[in-house]
Amino acid sequence: MRDLYGQVIMDHYRHPRNRGELEAPDVERHLLNPLCGDEVTVYARLEGDRVADVRFTGRGCSISQASASMMTERLRGKSREEAEVEISRFKRMMTGEEAFPEGDDLAALKGVIQYPSRIRCATLAWEAFQQGLENNTSK
Ligand code: FES
Ligand code: FES
Repeated sequence: MRDLYGQVIMDHYRHPRNRGELEAPDVERHLLNPLCGDEVTVYARLEGDRVADVRFTGRGCSISQASASMMTERLRGKSREEAEVEISRFKRMMTGEEAFPEGDDLAALKGVIQYPSRIRCATLAWEAFQQGLENNTSK
């Protein structure tokens, strides 16, 4: 099972989805993981209440980069409220307060983690997006 999880992570790490900056984004949030110095910036374009586009840049371990890539796929097209709910839920699933639904690719992020300190790697981009959305109250 760990092998399968590892493959999902490495696929996103080597071929990140939605990697790159967005011009004139409605949401932009840079976040540093103080534990290791790795960083991520999440950009999003909102159309009305919808997350029309979401991208990321950054450098970090495979878990952090794969998680950012998976997050963009998961949250693009969602309403702002849906995105916020998904982010909170993902954080709870990573800490084990809630289980991942069967067949959810995101479970790979938890599956490959061997030390609790690495949870932060997986939640970094999600946290950045959440803070970015919170800061963007005008829309
Ligand atoms: Fe960074 Fe293993 S993924 S140390
Ligand atoms: Fe730095 Fe994972 S080790 S984000």
